[in-house]
Amino acid sequence: MAASGGSMEDVVKYFQQTREFVDDRLREYMGGGEPLLDILQESINYTLFSGGKRIRPLFCFLVGELFDIPRRKLVSLACALEMIHTASLIMDDLPHMDDGQIRRGKPANHVIYGQDVAALASIGLLTKAYEIVLEDPALSDDKKVRVVSKLASVVGINGMVGGQFVDLKYSKESMDFSILDYIHLHKTASLFVASGTTAAIVGDATKEQTDALESYANNVGFAFQILDDLLDVRGKVGELGKSMKQDKGNFAKSYGVERADQLVEEYTGRALESIRIFDGRNNKLIALGLMLLKRKS
Ligand code: IPE
Ligand code: IPE
Ligand code: MG
Ligand code: MG
Ligand code: MG
Repeated sequence: MAASGGSMEDVVKYFQQTREFVDDRLREYMGGGEPLLDILQESINYTLFSGGKRIRPLFCFLVGELFDIPRRKLVSLACALEMIHTASLIMDDLPHMDDGQIRRGKPANHVIYGQDVAALASIGLLTKAYEIVLEDPALSDDKKVRVVSKLASVVGINGMVGGQFVDLKYSKESMDFSILDYIHLHKTASLFVASGTTAAIVGDATKEQTDALESYANNVGFAFQILDDLLDVRGKVGELGKSMKQDKGNFAKSYGVERADQLVEEYTGRALESIRIFDGRNNKLIALGLMLLKRKS
């Protein structure tokens, strides 16, 4: 499964293989069920299997490689990260949030299934994420508690939920950097941080190693959201696969596309600097950072 080297081509191949691997495992977790829930399940699967980039599970597996963690020990965690992320997208598109009409190249979940079902699909996915980690026989009880506790804190009020709240309620045309910083770090970077640091928990990383990964993830996550804001302004819906000009707080709108471009480079640079302590083993993480810098969707 692991790509043999660290070139961009290898990472692209690894990315593709990992995406397929994650899709297969997600399908196993989502299979079967009560017939009365068919439409709810269909709605969950509709967004879950409509072609996300699976970046968070990929990052989780790349951290796993640093610590030689057998892949089977990261399967539930990687799938949980993707479930949390997909739940956040379904929620984010709801009419009272960003009112997104297109997601992952198709009509948004609520456009097809209605707001009531979409809200339940989002909460159902979010909850399933914790369930699959807690029920994973490959992880010790101690690891499960630490992983789930981390996930809950980055998703909750002081994490993604808080970031989304500040985005909705405090965003305006011209914004203080400190507020945008809060939004980007909480609504987006926090789940990147969780993807790396929870894998680090499974791999018994030292504090220094965990701090390095946290810094990488924070910086990549920040760059990722600024680029997302840039794409919201100058991307193409066909390429992006989601509605444009729907986002609330937008760095490129507040500070201009030039400054945004500069910061994407700057934060990516900082991210790559942070993982120098893994020299010799960090090629794929470097390639991931550079690949995210060039993404068009
Ligand atoms: C989009 O995330 C939402 C943000 C945090 C900006 P992705 O760009 O990773 O979305 P998918 O999973 O590929 O659809
Ligand atoms: C949302 O940010 C981040 C989430 C937690 C979902 P955006 O509102 O910019 O995400 P997109 O552009 O709709 O994917
Ligand atoms: Mg956006
Ligand atoms: Mg949005
Ligand atoms: Mg939003």
